Amino acid sequence: MSTPTPSGEPPAESLPAPRRGTSIREFLSALGDRVTYTPTRNSYAIFGFLWGLPIPVFSIGLHCWLARHPPELSMLWEHPVHLIFLAHPLLFAVVFGAMGTVRIRKNAEIRRLVGELERHVAELAEANDKLKELDRMKSQFMANVTHELKTPLVAIRGYNESILEGRFGPLSEKQRDGLTVAVRNIDRLQRLIEELLEFERIDAGAFRPEPTDFDLVPLIRGTLQNFQPQIEEKGLVPEPRLPEMLFVRADREKIGRVLLNLLSNAVKFSEKQSAIGIDATRDENKGLAEVAVWDRGIGIPDAVQKYLFTRFWQADGSSRRRHGGTGLGLAICKGILDAHGASLRIESTEGRGTCAVFSLPLAGRERMSEGPGHDQRKTADSRR
Ligand SMILES: Nc1ncnc2c1ncn2[C@@H]1O[C@H](COP(=O)(O)OP(=O)(O)OP(=O)(O)O)[C@@H](O)[C@H]1O
Ligand SMILES: [Mg+2]
Repeated sequence: MSTPTPSGEPPAESLPAPRRGTSIREFLSALGDRVTYTPTRNSYAIFGFLWGLPIPVFSIGLHCWLARHPPELSMLWEHPVHLIFLAHPLLFAVVFGAMGTVRIRKNAEIRRLVGELERHVAELAEANDKLKELDRMKSQFMANVTHELKTPLVAIRGYNESILEGRFGPLSEKQRDGLTVAVRNIDRLQRLIEELLEFERIDAGAFRPEPTDFDLVPLIRGTLQNFQPQIEEKGLVPEPRLPEMLFVRADREKIGRVLLNLLSNAVKFSEKQSAIGIDATRDENKGLAEVAVWDRGIGIPDAVQKYLFTRFWQADGSSRRRHGGTGLGLAICKGILDAHGASLRIESTEGRGTCAVFSLPLAGRERMSEGPGHDQRKTADSRR
């Protein structure tokens, strides 16, 4: 089914296709146009006249040649058929002239449409420039605000910690519980601010990966470990399928962020007691390590999957939504992987689960032989 365009106009495919050739209506209407009979404005009429001219010349010439006498005016009433032949150049001039008028009208219409199109393009370019400027101002504003928020939060957290540690006097059990919740929420807020700052950096194109050779496996295990409390709370069953070691070349810290965001989604959108997993495999032929983070959770409807990497987008963005978040996680993952020249693929079926897959280049052989993991890797490979 076709959907209307944002401006509310019918979609392009439903517009009538431009007609080719000349319709009878256009032709008849052109017959009533003065342009058809004005050779100075319509060269088609002259062309038609010249096209029809050989007909009387040939017919009268043939007649004279057969009758063996020179052409005379009296031939016209003696043989009225010549009048018909004589009318041919005029007839052709009118027919061709009408076609010329149709062509002239169409050209004028095309010129008008092109002019309109150019005007729309100019308007769009102007609107685009304004949007870019607004976007830049918004980014600047976000960067400033988040930066300003960060500083007082550090102080708030520091004081809360000190109070929790009893530096300002003894605490009751209730006060301790309350402060622990406060510190946990300050941490959440700090993570959110970090995420916003990170996103702004990536979005502004200011992020450049700093690749090193590192083993992906401990990074994956460590990230999974971070989610242990949530995994236990939901009774999830983690099923990591990892090799003993898998050296890749990438920005370790940022890939850690990608894993964190993907695992956070897998945990967040999983139903209780379901399985989640992270598989890492090596494809020697392609020189790539492939990582897949999957869950058997709520999945994503087909119709909205195209929005997954749109910043601030969430399948359920309502104020009563079950799951928290800002809708930046996947946009950040994509930004980081794009900067690595890697892609992120999300496969999902609503109600069945989701799998996010990305690949990274395996660590280069020359580097592997220099790197500290070289000997271990040789042992691991020989064990296989
Ligand atoms: N594994 C998943 N299962 C189901 N839905 C998902 C999954 N991963 C992403 N989504 C959908 O895509 C949306 C965008 O994901 P994204 O990670 O960018 O944002 P978020 O998780 O909502 O917030 P944030 O990651 O910024 O805390 C989610 O809100 C959710 O609707
Ligand atoms: Mg997320």
